[in-house]
Amino acid sequence: MNAKPVVKWAGGKRQLIDKLIELMPDEYDHYFEPFVGGGALLFELMPENATINDVNEELLCIYNCLADKDDFKLMINELENHEKNHSEKYFYQIRELDRTPDYQNFPIWKRASRTIYLNKSCFNGLYRVNSKGYFNVPSGKKKKVQTYDKVNMLKLHNYFINSGITILSGDFTKAVEKAQRGDFVYFDPPYDPFDDKDTFTSYTKFNFNKDDQVRLADLFKELDNKGVYVMLSNHNTKLINELYDNYNINVVNAKRMINSNAKGRGNVEEVIITNY
Ligand SMILES: C[S@@+](CC[C@H](N)C(=O)[O-])C[C@H]1O[C@@H](n2cnc3c(N)ncnc32)[C@H](O)[C@@H]1O
Repeated sequence: MNAKPVVKWAGGKRQLIDKLIELMPDEYDHYFEPFVGGGALLFELMPENATINDVNEELLCIYNCLADKDDFKLMINELENHEKNHSEKYFYQIRELDRTPDYQNFPIWKRASRTIYLNKSCFNGLYRVNSKGYFNVPSGKKKKVQTYDKVNMLKLHNYFINSGITILSGDFTKAVEKAQRGDFVYFDPPYDPFDDKDTFTSYTKFNFNKDDQVRLADLFKELDNKGVYVMLSNHNTKLINELYDNYNINVVNAKRMINSNAKGRGNVEEVIITNY
């Protein structure tokens, strides 16, 4: 019954899925994913009871549409419209929408379908914003665009409708406030940058910096003390090794293709850290 992400997302974990599953606890109560992004692990597992969170509001519009019958229909209908109307000019018209003053008040199905359409038609299939928070990836110059896979989309809709899934939008700390002994938290934060490679950080207008990595390591420790199973992925950097030196650090290799700058692409060492 597993499904795939509806958007391609920087730092997406599709290629590390097998390793992540191997390193997860065999059993747990509630599943928490505070940096859910494209949701590769969540959709592979489809846990019955889950809390997901991300600070990116556009992404949350998609998940909230998947969880509501009416918004889901409206989102699909609008995706069909985008496919029919697609052209170079149309792409830029839709891209401009987040510059309109009342964009934040647009219905969620409109924002969700815009994000999916742009993700499927832009260069490299990437979500990236500038310092003002406006989407700024250029067109991928595709003649035709397919915005979604029907079977996959329906699987996801059924999952969101039928499972006990809580969707939160905000900072990662709030997302795990209810985590208790026996629950499982998977943290997949924006990467700590390597000194000699460009690292993607433009998920929102706020960058995730070293202080945030330290804040996250403190939270990891707090959850560990509570008896929560915690797994975290990041780059294999000096800082990350220092922050988690009391825990199990597994080094894995990953291919990173989704960087707008070619210097940031290629094979990189990542770590999967567990407290169990
Ligand atoms: C590496 S990505 C997660 C990728 C995801 N595991 C996947 O498979 O697609 C990191 C995510 O963290 C989100 N993020 C950045 N800062 C955050 C914060 N302070 N709190 C919660 N989420 C945040 C970004 O919007 C992004 O979606």
